Amino acid sequence: MKHAKTYKHWRIERDEQGIAWVYIDKADSNANSLSIDVLNELNSVIDALMTKPQPIGAVFLSGKPNGFIAGADINEFTKVKNYDEALSFIKLGQGAVDRIESLPFTTVAMIYGFCLGGGLELALGCTFRVAEDGPKTKLGLPEVQLGIHPGFGGSMRLTQLIGAPAAMDLMLTGRTINAKSAKKMGVVDYCVPLRHLKNVAQNLIMERTSRKPAKGSVQMTNSAFVRPFLARIIRKKTAQKAKIAHYPAPFALIDVWKQYGGNPRTMLEEEGKSVARLVTDATARNLVRVFFLRDRLKELGKSPANEPKIRNVHVIGAGVMGGDIAAWCALQGLQVTLQDRKPEILAKVLQRAYKLFDKRLKDRLLVQAAMDRLIPDIGGYGVERADIIVEAIIENVEAKQGLYRSLEPRMKPGALLTTNTSSIPLEILSQALKKPERLVGLHFFNPVAQMPLIEIVTTPHTDAACAQRVAAFAKQIDRLPLPVKSGPGFLVNRILMPYLLEAVTLYTEGISQQVIDSTALDFGMPMGPLHLADTVGLDICLSVAEILSKQLNVKVPDVLREKVARGELGIKTGHGFYMYAKDGKFSGSGNTGGKISKEVTDRLIGRMINEAVACLREGVVSDAELLDAGVIFGTGFAPFRGGPMQYVRDSGTKRYASRLEELQTQFGDSFKPDAGWSSLAGQN
Ligand code: NAI
Repeated sequence: MKHAKTYKHWRIERDEQGIAWVYIDKADSNANSLSIDVLNELNSVIDALMTKPQPIGAVFLSGKPNGFIAGADINEFTKVKNYDEALSFIKLGQGAVDRIESLPFTTVAMIYGFCLGGGLELALGCTFRVAEDGPKTKLGLPEVQLGIHPGFGGSMRLTQLIGAPAAMDLMLTGRTINAKSAKKMGVVDYCVPLRHLKNVAQNLIMERTSRKPAKGSVQMTNSAFVRPFLARIIRKKTAQKAKIAHYPAPFALIDVWKQYGGNPRTMLEEEGKSVARLVTDATARNLVRVFFLRDRLKELGKSPANEPKIRNVHVIGAGVMGGDIAAWCALQGLQVTLQDRKPEILAKVLQRAYKLFDKRLKDRLLVQAAMDRLIPDIGGYGVERADIIVEAIIENVEAKQGLYRSLEPRMKPGALLTTNTSSIPLEILSQALKKPERLVGLHFFNPVAQMPLIEIVTTPHTDAACAQRVAAFAKQIDRLPLPVKSGPGFLVNRILMPYLLEAVTLYTEGISQQVIDSTALDFGMPMGPLHLADTVGLDICLSVAEILSKQLNVKVPDVLREKVARGELGIKTGHGFYMYAKDGKFSGSGNTGGKISKEVTDRLIGRMINEAVACLREGVVSDAELLDAGVIFGTGFAPFRGGPMQYVRDSGTKRYASRLEELQTQFGDSFKPDAGWSSLAGQN
């Protein structure tokens, strides 16, 4: 290097050939993000690049090993108080990327690891992008997941670069892509192994390659003739996935592009204004909250110092849950032995696992390797070697206790013992153990591959170190651990059940299934409660409800018992609250009464919220944030509302409690406000 110039977050190194290597290395941070300070300094960096003698080209790259840039600094943009503040932050970002684009020499973004949001927008301002063809490289514009859309020029530049259909798809789903896909779509120009990355960047500059304009077919997608037509199709498709009232950002993005996509400069300006409007909206605020809640759960799964990672997992019980848990662990790279009583049960799991691996890994060799990691083990030989045992056999105290007695003497010292029980108190199960303190609840949700949450269940007697290691295991397999106190239904089922039972009660009052389910969807739930009950199985719902009803203020409607007695168990029998065809597809209900009303919403959601307040009072989770996190990640509770407790705050705590009192007068004691409301109202 000829000479280097160092800033707080940036560093410029000039090499002998006259190329400037511009490193971003955000101070006091593990990952690079674009904060106001970083962007201000970027302007000084650009000033320096403009100063004579100018370099012959500049390569923008990261000084950190984990990736390029993760996006705009989320901590900062949550502090933005109003439209003007938001717009000035956006203009700072847009201005810096604009200046990179206008530099009078070739610029290259050299990408490895993550290159997301504002990071990709910065890269889009460079003449070329080269990316490492590696498993860690991830590119994307995930802003919609935070209730906004790209604002540092990304909406404009990506639609211009790769055409509106592909660009919109990336921005509207917020999904990330690997380097190969990015090359195929035209987001990056080269996708090469790490060892070639610098050379390619260097050559692009040395050869003074200039960029060819986008192909006519790409440009065409942004033309005045095509935009209205395409926008209509994209909007329709988006509306099938999200409601504009709940998630305004995707629709705002489509509108901005539809109106201004033909003129890059105006589009840039309007993109900025649109994001400034969205940032201060309740949806964005709540989605950012959800983002931080996810981080908080991940943090709770931190590995204790010097703790080796789990390598061998032994799962006992290869039913609905155990089979999927074993497959999931193998997918995550662990060595798994799976035990059950009959070989044919294990054979079924292997078929299911193959489907999962094929869908997720999409590569024959990787699928084969995952299958090799999942070993059927009728004899239970994996017990001695296992770092962790996951028990997922039938929900029966004697069966589980008997199993623990036989397992304990065979387990490695220090190996973890966990149970997936959804209703048996840990205090009872652990009585069978010589060291009862070692048993930890590891409560997965169904379907395992889709539900990100795991409840980590403990009693006051559980060994805290074991519980922490189990939480770290949950994180290791890419799930979110939520520490909960052992008690009826733990957190998630306990809060979900009153809501499901209220749906059944409404049904018995003559309100149609569609109206009940649409009410919940309208509120923002991912699935209606009756459809959910049919999916889970009415027999399972009934058994959880019966257990909860013995200990909590929960009454089980007779119709649920009657349906189960008649063998109407939901999708699995073709008949539950709805009728289903053989392939599980909905085929009708035969009932149409009632209409969506505020009262139905309040009854459904109110029961859930009241139970949430009871859980907080009892300390099932340690605070309201964790409660919101559990209910969002465990049930899919409307993320744009930020969780049940956030919803209560937004609605006004006192107002919500009085609404429950009204409902109690009208519909009885299942709406009686929990004692916890008084302290909540006090806090407000
Ligand atoms: P399941 O009935 O589908 O599977 C249980 C499996 O355990 C069967 O394959 C059975 O052959 C096997 N088994 C029974 N005793 C055994 C023994 N001594 N040794 C080896 N294998 C044995 O049950 P499912 O639904 O998978 O539930 C398992 C556990 O997970 C239960 O504790 C349940 O409460 C819990 N759970 C269930 C959820 C669900 O949605 N089904 C959700 C979360 C937890």
